[in-house]
Amino acid sequence: MNQNITCLGIESSCDDTAASVVSVSPSQAEILSSVVFGQTNLHQHFGGVVPEIAARAHAERIDVAVKDALHQANLGLKDCDLIAVTAGPGLIGGVMSGVMFAKGLSASQNIPLIGVNHLAGHALTPRLTDNIAFPYLMLLVSGGHCQFLIVHGPDSFERLGGTIDDAPGEAFDKTARILGLPQPGGPAVESFAKTGDPNRFKLPRPLMDQPGFDLSFSGLKTALMRAKSEITKPDNTIQSSDISDLCASFQLAVSDVLTEKSRRALNHYKTFSSDVPTFAVAGGVAANQALRSSLEKLCEQSEVRFCAPPLNLCTDNAAMIAFAGAIQFRMGNKSGLDFVARPRWPLDTSQPSMLGSGKKGPKA
Ligand code: KG4
Ligand code: ZN
Repeated sequence: MNQNITCLGIESSCDDTAASVVSVSPSQAEILSSVVFGQTNLHQHFGGVVPEIAARAHAERIDVAVKDALHQANLGLKDCDLIAVTAGPGLIGGVMSGVMFAKGLSASQNIPLIGVNHLAGHALTPRLTDNIAFPYLMLLVSGGHCQFLIVHGPDSFERLGGTIDDAPGEAFDKTARILGLPQPGGPAVESFAKTGDPNRFKLPRPLMDQPGFDLSFSGLKTALMRAKSEITKPDNTIQSSDISDLCASFQLAVSDVLTEKSRRALNHYKTFSSDVPTFAVAGGVAANQALRSSLEKLCEQSEVRFCAPPLNLCTDNAAMIAFAGAIQFRMGNKSGLDFVARPRWPLDTSQPSMLGSGKKGPKA
């Protein structure tokens, strides 16, 4: 299959209702439209994403997102060769909203359908934005996930290591909650960190003294909580400059750990990769400027090409789903109408799960 594929992508795995049209030829890809309806205002009173509210909001607005995406691309449904939808992992109600909607569209318009792994969408984004060649080393760092992957092909991922507990985005969100900042926590913490002293609080660098590429972030928020309680005044208040210092110290700890483990993953990867290797970063936390600068510096020192997608393609979007679906479809993959939404769906199924596997299967 050599021709252009015009793919409608649909994403609803967490708290962004997104639709996009992407045109994919064998040698390049173009984003014709990308619509993202966030739900921050719906969840802000609850201090986190409420799955039931998220699922209802997706069901209410997914058709509008798709209409807008088609309109902005100046196309109709009949112009689409493929519908790609996030089939997991994620909050199951939200994933089901997208999957049911996509199945309905596919069946009624007779358009082929493909269920896409959300993590594959993030992991393949550097190919969408920078057309980098396979294989490449990737740090996928988001609200629910953190892993080092060698991306061998559109549906071939080798996990080198990852978090054994919280994901960094989760840690940013919890930090924001502890400090009374709005959700999602990442951008709020980053903004306060800009004016803070990153060296004021000595927060731990978990698992740094252990070999390998695994990470841990759950202890960091406990340390932050302790640091906060030590400077909280008797009337239970805390100065804005203290919040900035706590944010800056937390952000530096996350960035230090991710950079050191990236150094190790790169050294390992360089031993068997040819030419100039590429190190790519993706996922919501990859929007963090301090982390991007630190990783960029590491790549300069290591003489490795660094690739970080634009901020709007790091956080959740449907262009990455459309693109991943199109290149997997080109390989001959497609889904029947009977595929199911999956709350858990590891990218590398050849390895033991990192985060426990209950009834719903391994998380990552
Ligand atoms: O990839 P994403 O949009 O959704 C998931 O698949 O998880 O990532 C969302 C996460 C949230 O935890 C959010 O706080 C974090 O990414 N995030 C950031 C920044 N922007 C979003 N974390 C740190 N700095 C940022 N600028
Ligand atoms: Zn995501």
